[in-house]
Amino acid sequence: MRKNIVAGNWKMNKTLQEGIALAKELNEMLANEKPNCDVIICTPFIHLASVTPLVDPAKIGVGAENCADKESGAYTGEVSAAMVASTGAKYVILGHSERRAYYHETVEILEEKVKLALAHGLTPIFCIGEVLEEREANKQNEVVAAQLASVFSLSAEDFSKIILAYEPVWAIGTGKTATPEQAQEIHAFIRSTVAGKYGQEVADNCSILYGGSCKPSNAKELFAKPDVDGGLIGGAALKAADFKGIIDAFNN
Ligand code: PGA
Repeated sequence: MRKNIVAGNWKMNKTLQEGIALAKELNEMLANEKPNCDVIICTPFIHLASVTPLVDPAKIGVGAENCADKESGAYTGEVSAAMVASTGAKYVILGHSERRAYYHETVEILEEKVKLALAHGLTPIFCIGEVLEEREANKQNEVVAAQLASVFSLSAEDFSKIILAYEPVWAIGTGKTATPEQAQEIHAFIRSTVAGKYGQEVADNCSILYGGSCKPSNAKELFAKPDVDGGLIGGAALKAADFKGIIDAFNN
């Protein structure tokens, strides 16, 4: 059975001290609760080793926001999948549209990153999504299908370990959320594309998260759609109460 998941993406926000405080606050908020979804926080690299031991691993998984496309060696400033895993982190966001747009991450680079992440026991949260012009030209299905090439070279067994996140770029940080109907339509397309490649069972078990201006006020409606299995949350993950509000969308 596929999982419902709410994952936070802190992006380049929070000093180490602020990040520790946020993780502690969230951990306390969830201490006496039994969320109806998996909860993940993806933090800047330098927070990982401090945040991981602070949270209850039964309630909150920790992840990175990126990792290198190389195993190790002379790549100044890069952080490898093995290093991420050595902090106790279990997840890594790969293919975020900001990485694709600002750091020129291609389908091929992302394919390497996904393979290295899996080789080191990390679960990739693999992001796909179209920009506004592509949506206006009704090309969103083509765009996401092409982006899936980075993960379609995986064996069915490895593909079954990853989480997908559909994030329309026009909805990220803009306050403009996809409607639940728009999200459902493309999530269903993504699932059918996965079914075409790996079969219906693998597709049915694949968690596909929605990301892009998801907040407590719209999460419930989005998550109610049959092919929307949770959210990847940016801005609203930076305040424990907002993030908790989104987690609660699965509770009532
Ligand atoms: P947002 O970001 O929730 O701030 O729109 C989502 C993301 O980029 O993962």
